[in-house]
Amino acid sequence: MSTALEALAADLHDCTRCKLASLGRTQVVFGTGRPDADLMFVGEGPGEEEDRQGLPFVGRSGKLLDKLMFEELGITRDRVYIANVVKCRPPANRDPEPDEIASCRPFLEQQVELIAPKVIVTLGKFSTHLLLDTKEPITRLRGQEYPFGAGVLVPTLHPAYVLRGGGELAAQMRADLVRAKVAIARLGGAL
Ligand code: URA
Repeated sequence: MSTALEALAADLHDCTRCKLASLGRTQVVFGTGRPDADLMFVGEGPGEEEDRQGLPFVGRSGKLLDKLMFEELGITRDRVYIANVVKCRPPANRDPEPDEIASCRPFLEQQVELIAPKVIVTLGKFSTHLLLDTKEPITRLRGQEYPFGAGVLVPTLHPAYVLRGGGELAAQMRADLVRAKVAIARLGGAL
């Protein structure tokens, strides 16, 4: 990790800025991967397994993300950076609430600024709505890229939704990953 990212992670280590700290989280799940990644994934928030291991996307959704990343981009997760909108597990995997998202937002923004990826792939509605500042349904937003800083943002479906929905949704997520790959090459990045 870069020194600045390490400092940010240390700052969040025992965070009590929002109520998730006292609602059963085991540990803060800051993020994982290359500090200089050209591709960054942003999910929603840690689930049970993530809360246990302290790492994002290590449960069933993460297995699907790893699989599609490998099959469509030819890479493993150590080539990218992975983070979430909220860094602490919401109880019983409920949706993160607006005050929790607002508390955590500056930390995601600092991660994005420090990593400065060429392409951000947002996984599901929470990260897409937050970073694109819109409330459009994810099903309408996905399927194209959006300017984001010096790069682009490619929204896609959340892997948990894809797991529930089956083949057509998986095909859409695969197509979005290919979209991200093409954008990285166009922007002179590497995977
Ligand atoms: N779902 C998310 O949005 N993030 C994780 O880290 C795991 C599951």
